[in-house]
Amino acid sequence: MAIEIEQPTTVELSKIAVSKTHGEDSPYFAGWKAYDEDPYHDAENPSGVIQMGLAENQVSFDLLEEYLAKHSEASIFGNGALSFRENALFQDYHGLKSFRQAMSNFMEQIRGGRAKFDSDRVVLTAGATAANELLTFILADPGDALLVPTPYYPGFDRDLRWRTGVNIVPIHCDSSNNFQVTPDALESAYREAAALNLKVRAVLITNPSNPLGATIQLSVLEEILDFAVRKNIHLVSDEIYSGSTFASSEFISIAEILESRGYKDSERVHIVYSLSKDLGLPGFRVGTIYSYNDKVVTTARRMSSFTLISSQTQHLLASMLSDKKFTENYIKTNRERLMKRYNMIIEGLRSAGIECLKGNAGLFCWMNLSQLLAEPTREGELVLWKSILREVKLNISPGSSCHCSEPGWFRVCFANMSEQTLEVALNRLQNFMDQRKTNGN
Ligand SMILES: Cc1ncc(COP(=O)(O)O)c(C=O)c1O
Repeated sequence: MAIEIEQPTTVELSKIAVSKTHGEDSPYFAGWKAYDEDPYHDAENPSGVIQMGLAENQVSFDLLEEYLAKHSEASIFGNGALSFRENALFQDYHGLKSFRQAMSNFMEQIRGGRAKFDSDRVVLTAGATAANELLTFILADPGDALLVPTPYYPGFDRDLRWRTGVNIVPIHCDSSNNFQVTPDALESAYREAAALNLKVRAVLITNPSNPLGATIQLSVLEEILDFAVRKNIHLVSDEIYSGSTFASSEFISIAEILESRGYKDSERVHIVYSLSKDLGLPGFRVGTIYSYNDKVVTTARRMSSFTLISSQTQHLLASMLSDKKFTENYIKTNRERLMKRYNMIIEGLRSAGIECLKGNAGLFCWMNLSQLLAEPTREGELVLWKSILREVKLNISPGSSCHCSEPGWFRVCFANMSEQTLEVALNRLQNFMDQRKTNGN
């Protein structure tokens, strides 16, 4: 018999438990719910919602499956380091040396060998979500502020603010310069924080950017680092999409800039990475903080006790990432496939009369539908978003959920579905645009 539990109405919970700063009631997450209730399936539910709001990479899954089929020893318990006993017993919070080494090599490989990583500075976390929160706990106190360029990944509201009590002050970027950060925008965010009486502790950038699908230029990175030095604050660079740049040469890691400066000012720089995007393994929960600051490394390692990666996962991925032949082929093929998808969506949107920001990385494009807004406001954008969700049955992410200050921009993901499903989505958008034109809007 099921036990019926009456929900208490008066017993109190903590401030964190009842706080709304997790941001999960935004349209970004509401769209996921709409998809869950009516998911598209080519045969069983062809008029269902197509999920284009999920930055998931499934385009190279066959390569991972092929590796596992050929290397069953990587995932099946045997003797030695891969024995059941070795995996099941105590793991200390440093993680497996073999895996940290494989991660640092992989991070170098993605950057074309242009930056070096020391495996002793790799702190393992359960995904970039944990890495970003953990770093925030280390760099800032409750009530302090992080400066974050807009538009930004909606999950940051949860990861950087919710449990830490830290504030995000936006660095407003706009389409006039393709949403790149400017020195003026940095200064004015800093001033805004000061006016709010908030102590700024760090700038957090995402390079390549989610949601823009574009890398940050060298000169801009230099300016951001100079700004952090001038203000004596930290710089966190979330480089979770670094291996998903279509051409390796187009991505410049903050690590390369530090190398070019002989590691001057490196104690304030921290890189976040994860295998959720480049390897398409968000379910494995594998992330890392790479810090050039010894104290941050030590503290992050202690804190990582709360968000460790299981030994079994580390063993499997240590084998996979140590196989140079596999990783070289994977990185190359994955980049080519993402670029092909990107070109496919850009072409499809263009023929429907829709323009996007020029992108060179990631699993999404940044689409401009401002010409369709009944009014150029956040409310106008959400009206359009709702009609795309309900009438066109596409879940895309409104720019306002990424705190974009210019209404009418939307993030559209293209790597979490088959090419056929992407074609269906593009056809739906084409019809929607044709109808709008016919109706004179
Ligand atoms: C910029 C950025 N950082 C962090 C994350 C979280 O990644 P993970 O799955 O590794 O926690 C995401 C996921 O979408 C992201 O886009």
